[in-house]
Amino acid sequence: MDEKKEELKSILKKYGQEHLLNHYETLDEKHKKELLNQIETLNLELITSLYKNTKKEEKNENDKITPIEYMDKEKLYDDYKYFENIGKKAIKERKLAAVTMAGGQGTRLGHNGPKGTYDIGLDSHKSLFELLSDHLKEAEKKYEVVIPWFIMTSRENNKATIEFFEKNKYFGYQKEKNIFFFIQGELPMIDTEGKILIGEDGLIKQAADGHGGIYESLVKTGMTKKMREMGIEWVFIGGVDNCLAKMVDPVLMGIAIDKKVTVACKSAVKANPHEKVGVFCKRNGKPNVIEYSEITEEMAEETDEKGELLYGESHLLCNLFRVDAIERMGANPLPYHIAYKKATYLDQNGEVIVPTSPNAYKFEAFLFDAFGEVDDMAILRVKREEEFAPVKNADSVGVDCPKTARELYKKFHHIN
Ligand code: UTP
Repeated sequence: MDEKKEELKSILKKYGQEHLLNHYETLDEKHKKELLNQIETLNLELITSLYKNTKKEEKNENDKITPIEYMDKEKLYDDYKYFENIGKKAIKERKLAAVTMAGGQGTRLGHNGPKGTYDIGLDSHKSLFELLSDHLKEAEKKYEVVIPWFIMTSRENNKATIEFFEKNKYFGYQKEKNIFFFIQGELPMIDTEGKILIGEDGLIKQAADGHGGIYESLVKTGMTKKMREMGIEWVFIGGVDNCLAKMVDPVLMGIAIDKKVTVACKSAVKANPHEKVGVFCKRNGKPNVIEYSEITEEMAEETDEKGELLYGESHLLCNLFRVDAIERMGANPLPYHIAYKKATYLDQNGEVIVPTSPNAYKFEAFLFDAFGEVDDMAILRVKREEEFAPVKNADSVGVDCPKTARELYKKFHHIN
């Protein structure tokens, strides 16, 4: 092991990261081994370039942004039944799986534990995971087929998530056959000098690599292979925090199949032109999502001849992919966005430092950055109050919080 350590030390030195071995001698054998494994798998070139990027402002101002076409679920008229029947047939043939992304840290909500375990305050005290499982079980009754459920966790919350499912008897799911957990990728956190942080356990401080990590991790952990073996062709990918997510939607699926697209996304019209949400657009001719911070006031207010906002279709993180599209998206690295966060770490003297303000960079990929990989995307506008009740913030913030989600949920399900 010492030989390996010396070998890794010289590599680290080249990248100015040799401090990672400072506390090596204080670790037990298990942790020593783990640290060496972590170092061995580090992509030091990538980390160096990510640090360089923290010094540059992200500029997309030369990108050509244009509106993207969408369909309105309310205005499909006769086509509604047509698409629905196509989708129903495929669902009944067990061609659909659901993926829930539950690897986020949920910092804004501030819940102690995986976000999916959060109780939004219904009389039933059901957790977000249980509310999602209810929807899948309802579909099971309707279409007489079990929808396989894949759950993405992070290294940080994987154990607690699985324990929660065990405690709740997998919400009636047959674990071996129909429920699958997989862990998303991670990237080290670095300080403002570009040094990789060491966590309290003496190992490299890593953080989940964003919801854009979904494609790569579905492929790397063998989930797409499993899906193919099960005959799955379509995968709905959504967040854990939308308690009205309609994961099994025959109309969306029918459109995707009929239009021969590999990705079909749901949108909801913006509450007002300046709502702080990302909206669908074309970026340099390819499907994409533009953040509210990137859009000019003029663009935000621009309307078409029918008076509809040109950039009004907000991205709900409710998207359907063909398995091969996931594989294609997972093959190419996505750009990483930088977040400046508070991170507890071990300093040079081995002391635990708990910062009171942000001190470290975290790198996250965004799921929609992969949309540019495809030319064939359909967008379906749905009614926000029927399909979107996110739990992002604490109640004190007043929007997208447990209180608003609870009200939307109750209204939709006719609960008093
Ligand atoms: P958000 O971007 O809202 O992040 O994730 P979050 O972790 O829930 O909350 P904040 O920003 O820390 O307050 C949207 C969805 O993507 C998942 C989340 O679990 C949520 O379902 N996600 C996010 C991941 O699975 N992994 C990540 O690395 C980030």
